[in-house]
Amino acid sequence: MDQTAHHPADDTDDRFARRLEREGLIVLPGASFALRAEEQSLLDPALGDGRAKNVSLGPGGLRGAQADAAATARLEALLARYGAWARQTLLDLAPRYGPYLEMGRTSFRPRAVDGAAVSPRKDDRRLHVDAFASQPTGGRRILRVFTNINPDGEARHWRVGERFEDHARRWATRQRGPLPFEAELLQALGITRSRRTPYDFLMLAIHDGAKLDPAYQSAARARDILFPAGASWIVYTDSVVHAAMAGRHALEQTFYLPLEAMAEPAAAPARILERITGRALV
Ligand code: SIN
Ligand code: FE
Repeated sequence: MDQTAHHPADDTDDRFARRLEREGLIVLPGASFALRAEEQSLLDPALGDGRAKNVSLGPGGLRGAQADAAATARLEALLARYGAWARQTLLDLAPRYGPYLEMGRTSFRPRAVDGAAVSPRKDDRRLHVDAFASQPTGGRRILRVFTNINPDGEARHWRVGERFEDHARRWATRQRGPLPFEAELLQALGITRSRRTPYDFLMLAIHDGAKLDPAYQSAARARDILFPAGASWIVYTDSVVHAAMAGRHALEQTFYLPLEAMAEPAAAPARILERITGRALV
């Protein structure tokens, strides 16, 4: 008898993770994170510094806020509380991620999505998968927990596009490989925080390829999703082709997960891209 065979309890534990990895996006049923009375005043978009898209909290502290000491402390406490809630919620649903889960930044997005004009590469109203120029993941997954905390009942409007595999094929096959020493140079110059792997180069090419192609953006088929005020949703933003079209006041927690944590590793972008390119990428 194979001692490593799945115990029924493991299957139950893995059910949510499998579904999340296969489907990419799950809206949480029932009650989610709610603001406390003393946190309501933090919904003022003027608390942003006007430069950063978001206010965010990470290991280096709070970024992007412009508020007095008291409001800054309350913002920081809110973000810390949201991060802890998101982590616990995810671990309750997907206990298998426990040993692997790495916390990224926690963000508060007080401004209207459709407000500011930004560069096409930063324009999240264009369909894309997430890939960060300065932060290579080396194949780790990007998992985000969003909550719409809009106080006026305004939904957050997303569009969700084609399957990752179909999306990736459009750009992955035309992509040149990195130049010799390109990854080392980017790291030495401080442009990237760690070394870009071939996977990171390819993911950025897919991200930029989609966002910078107006023909793709206007012809792409996508379904609209309206996340009602009060809703929370969990999404692998590295594989779900998405665009944020409208809405204001969201909280978001980013997590990173290594491929070893996956219940369905074959559904991870790194493995899909390796199948498409026939190369080892991580
Ligand atoms: C994005 O990840 O593209 C933005 C999502 C959002 O702010 O709703
Ligand atoms: Fe995104």
